[in-house]
Amino acid sequence: MSALLEFTPKHDDHFPTIGELITNMRAISPETTVKSVSDDFFADAQLEAVALVENRRPIGLVTRTKFLFTVFRQFGWEVYQRKPISVVADTKPLILPDWARLDVALSLALQRGSQDLYDEVLVVNDDNEFAGLLSVRQMVVQQTHALANVIVQKELAHERARELEEIGRIKSQFLANVTHELRSPVNAIIELAELMRIAAESGYVAQVRDRLGLLLSSATSLRSVITNMLDLSKIEAGRMRVIAEPFDLAGVLHEVAETTRVLLGGKPVEVLVSTEKRSVEMTSDPVKVRQIVLNLAGNAAKFTESGRIVIQQTSTADEIAIAVSDTGIGIRAEDLKKLFIAFSQLEDTQTKSHEGTGLGLAITKELTQMLRGRVEVDSELGRGSTFTIHLPKEISE
Ligand SMILES: Nc1ncnc2c1ncn2[C@@H]1O[C@H](COP(=O)(O)OP(=O)(O)OP(=O)(O)O)[C@@H](O)[C@H]1O
Ligand SMILES: [Mg+2]
Repeated sequence: MSALLEFTPKHDDHFPTIGELITNMRAISPETTVKSVSDDFFADAQLEAVALVENRRPIGLVTRTKFLFTVFRQFGWEVYQRKPISVVADTKPLILPDWARLDVALSLALQRGSQDLYDEVLVVNDDNEFAGLLSVRQMVVQQTHALANVIVQKELAHERARELEEIGRIKSQFLANVTHELRSPVNAIIELAELMRIAAESGYVAQVRDRLGLLLSSATSLRSVITNMLDLSKIEAGRMRVIAEPFDLAGVLHEVAETTRVLLGGKPVEVLVSTEKRSVEMTSDPVKVRQIVLNLAGNAAKFTESGRIVIQQTSTADEIAIAVSDTGIGIRAEDLKKLFIAFSQLEDTQTKSHEGTGLGLAITKELTQMLRGRVEVDSELGRGSTFTIHLPKEISE
């Protein structure tokens, strides 16, 4: 047995052992006549080789091509047919242990000068007993599969590493964002409280009232960041429940429009609501529907400097569509698919000046899916965006 094989580890993730690949176990006694082996080869067109075995030990090999070539040469048949098969057998075939790895076994077969793909290797078990036959051709085919697999595995490993890198990048970006988002309102609250204390001590009631308003808006924005984070972790942990009930969607949309006008903070943007009817009945989770539409309208308010925001409701037989469109900064086509990934904010000089954690759309998508609906987006850079939610008219919990 070759020294190389002694050091071959028995298992490898990529290459099987040759013992695992054996399909041909045809063994005959060396006394068998040439005629009888010839009959076997003619009876079974798939039979490529037979092993000569004595006391369970392989002692020779007969391959179809070499056999036919030898015995049917001119006058060969008459001479050979009654003789024992051992006279035409290859008595020095390559014998390898069944635990040899395919790649090593194949390289040994090829080193041995076997350019013949129909040549065969005899395989033995740990007690050197015959275990089967394997053709060089089969080994080449299997080796090609194994190598293709190695390449695919390597590609996957690369891809995974790239994904992990990207997740790491998004996480640290998120941490920076969140820290900023939490610290700014907290700082504002502390400073305002300090100023209010001074004003209160001096008896300036009007100043205290003014600052209370600012303090309230800082606290509100702090609360919304924390609520967003809690919502997303609740959704991800599968702890968010749907509570379905009949409600009037038109009422919800008008409420959202009202809040959006406040969010615009005096920017010259009008907010319009259009519904098919005065009241639009649906059975779903009204709290979640409100949150979804408010997230979209809130974004529209954030990313629109002038023009209008339209909240439009339409319907088909069993679906309701709510489209929120704006005349804001718009989104690049290549950025559209990034929108719904948690913590991602588009790296645009215009949007960088806007506050947010990049959680709104991720939450919107998750909530919409919980209500068995879907979100679509259509946008043109510099002209505006339209986010459309499609929801079933009725869901049960
Ligand atoms: N109507 C819109 N017009 C232009 N860009 C938008 C619009 N809506 C979303 N975007 C882009 O998609 C990004 C992600 O939106 P998302 O609502 O998830 O996060 P955010 O608004 O930045 O933060 P948050 O909603 O957590 O406060 C935004 O930062 C912005 O770049
Ligand atoms: Mg948002």
